[in-house]
Amino acid sequence: MAVEERSEAGDAAQLEAEADEFRYHTGEGRPSEAGDAIQFIDVHKAFGRNKVLRGLNMGLPEDQISMIIGPSGTGKSVCIKHMVGLMYPDEGDVIVHGQSVPSLPDAELFEMRKKFGVLFQDGALFGSMNLYDNVAFPLRHHSEKGEDEISHIVHRRLREVGLADAHDKMPNELSGGMRKRAGFARALVLEPQIVLFDEPDSGLDPVRTALLCELIKEVHAENGGCYVVITHDIMSARRVANHLSVLWKGRIVQSGPAQELFESENPFVRQFLSGESAGPLGME
Ligand SMILES: Nc1ncnc2c1ncn2[C@@H]1O[C@H](COP(=O)(O)OP(=O)(O)OP(=O)(O)O)[C@@H](O)[C@H]1O
Ligand SMILES: [Mg+2]
Repeated sequence: MAVEERSEAGDAAQLEAEADEFRYHTGEGRPSEAGDAIQFIDVHKAFGRNKVLRGLNMGLPEDQISMIIGPSGTGKSVCIKHMVGLMYPDEGDVIVHGQSVPSLPDAELFEMRKKFGVLFQDGALFGSMNLYDNVAFPLRHHSEKGEDEISHIVHRRLREVGLADAHDKMPNELSGGMRKRAGFARALVLEPQIVLFDEPDSGLDPVRTALLCELIKEVHAENGGCYVVITHDIMSARRVANHLSVLWKGRIVQSGPAQELFESENPFVRQFLSGESAGPLGME
């Protein structure tokens, strides 16, 4: 009896501590009006004792540029891996265009991945291939197109990202910004319905970052689809986001139309979006 009482008191204390920890989390995953291309439903993911996603509810709207921002190590890249089925939730579900990604059999997961274009942090080009072959690679391996058509598409995509004259270059001859643009061109060749960018702006100077943001907006205006951009850069978020989700401690603090978030009264969101040192976020 005494033991039970003590554990009840312990549970209550733990619940209270948790409620306190999440006191700034005011925006529990409201579905967007546009309809969501991707939904996280109560997703939990831990690595050993490191609980990374802790009941994440997040909707990413169709046909908009969404940005996910949050402090380092909060699980932004882990989210991307869940979207494409490279990681599975311990609990909860990840829905892409109405399909539950963790429950798809391998063959269907393979098909579903064709919806996605992914731009990894460093562009992830194949070092032994020139730019042309890098960008042509997905078309040669995942489509039945002939070389004439491939050439047409590759030239168009390289032109679009401002690399029309660089198709013979090897990746190590390119600057960081060029590699990112090339990775972007390659992510687009299969005309994906969803494009994921993991920190496209990391390692770029402010001018290159601004240019890349413009490029993302232009390409989105032309092609449409659900774009998800992960960044810590508030300037990038101001420039391109239609929709913003602020992630912290494995849950969404607040999400919604970008303008709403930039006008938020939430102390954490305000601190993070204005880059101030005073506020709920410390060095921890
Ligand atoms: N495969 C893995 N095995 C073990 N731990 C992992 C793995 N992948 C990620 N983690 C842990 O999950 C946490 C979140 O990592 P993640 O890379 O998603 O952070 P992030 O928000 O993308 O950070 P950053 O802004 O620095 O890129 C970190 O503590 C990381 O160590
Ligand atoms: Mg990351």
